[in-house]
Amino acid sequence: MPGDKSISHRALMLGGLASGRTRIAGLLEGQDILSTAAAMRAFGANIRSQDGDWIVDGVGNGCLLEPEDILDFGNAGTGVRLVMGLAGVYDMETRFTGDASLVKRPMGRILDPLRQMGVQVEAEEGDRLPIRLHGPRTANPISYRVPVASAQVKSAVLLAGLNTPGVTTVIEPVATRDHTENMLKGFGAPIDITLDKQGVRHISVEGQSALAGQEITVPGDPSSAAFPIVAALITHGSDITIENILMNPARTGLIATLQEMGAVIDVENPRREGGEEVADLRVRSSDLKGVVVPAERAPSMIDEYPVLAVAASFAEGETLMQGLEELRVKESDRLAAVANALEINGVDCTEGRDFLSVRGRPGGKGLGAMTKDARVETHLDHRIAMSFLVFGLAAEHGSLVDDASMIATSFPGFLDLMAGLGAKMEPAA
Ligand code: S3P
Repeated sequence: MPGDKSISHRALMLGGLASGRTRIAGLLEGQDILSTAAAMRAFGANIRSQDGDWIVDGVGNGCLLEPEDILDFGNAGTGVRLVMGLAGVYDMETRFTGDASLVKRPMGRILDPLRQMGVQVEAEEGDRLPIRLHGPRTANPISYRVPVASAQVKSAVLLAGLNTPGVTTVIEPVATRDHTENMLKGFGAPIDITLDKQGVRHISVEGQSALAGQEITVPGDPSSAAFPIVAALITHGSDITIENILMNPARTGLIATLQEMGAVIDVENPRREGGEEVADLRVRSSDLKGVVVPAERAPSMIDEYPVLAVAASFAEGETLMQGLEELRVKESDRLAAVANALEINGVDCTEGRDFLSVRGRPGGKGLGAMTKDARVETHLDHRIAMSFLVFGLAAEHGSLVDDASMIATSFPGFLDLMAGLGAKMEPAA
């Protein structure tokens, strides 16, 4: 599996910021990550790949340079949001933009705390990209309660805190992936995590301290592994093992859900590597049954709902997925995109404001189509493309997606890997 996207972004950002050298093994070489690498170079970091590893010589905390040009993050929401936090509080001008998908996505969730820290913001209507930021002479440390369950918002505020005197605190009512705080600790940032009486996490970082370059090993991305996992489950006679997958509990919601549905997934050889839990996963084709996926599980599988909906399409009975409001602001409106793709492929489903229910058809009889009318619109969303290619493996009539180029943002080897497993995925005539 390619390296984890969340950890890869953060490794380049913190490596580019820290003093001295960071060596990264297993970095994801997808377009989203290359955009972050380009941005960190524009801030003065030296970044190059060497013998399969990535070497980053950082500028030192507080020492980012003013980029000459606008930073174009392409499709990468995590990249642009975290770097807006990292650099926005500097007393210099930084400009950000992205592709047709990214310019539609809400950035107010990052700009609001940055404004509180004293950052001047110029944005398109609705706090959209392109955006110009200019930090104050001295940024204002804040205590910020994250209003949506978002690791990106938490991370942007913590990264802004690195160039802010005093203590910046994030209060996180709903726990989300913890890679930023884990990695900050590894780079030597003074970070403090406590639970209050209600069990809510308070994460504080003291700004303007030194960060030191690190050796980082990036484990395989569970959000990418999700595609071959579901492919194996729904394709008769499959038995595959996927090695070296990140098993951080904040990322394993899909595995738990699939196991509840009856999936035969064995977690083999669990171990700790580079400060994270990893394991190999053996997956065999399975008879799945519908389940209720509670809203509380959403943060631990937020990127996996499209492919879960595919698994549910071949399960016995109904799968109800709750608490999906955040899916509306991903690379596409993923709730609408998934529901629409299921419907045109003959799957019985209901789209609510914040839920999706899918009534599956084991065996996939009558599902799917390769006609123009049934072509899945991916809306520049890599996960919609991969999900509905996987769908075609078990649907009687296959499936057709309008674009597969975006897959390279997160999983450049996807088509080759699936071909190696025997899947036939090819350009339509
Ligand atoms: C990510 C957080 C999630 C996720 C995204 C990666 C991260 O977004 O969807 O793909 O690396 O922090 P939100 O923070 O908006 O939930």
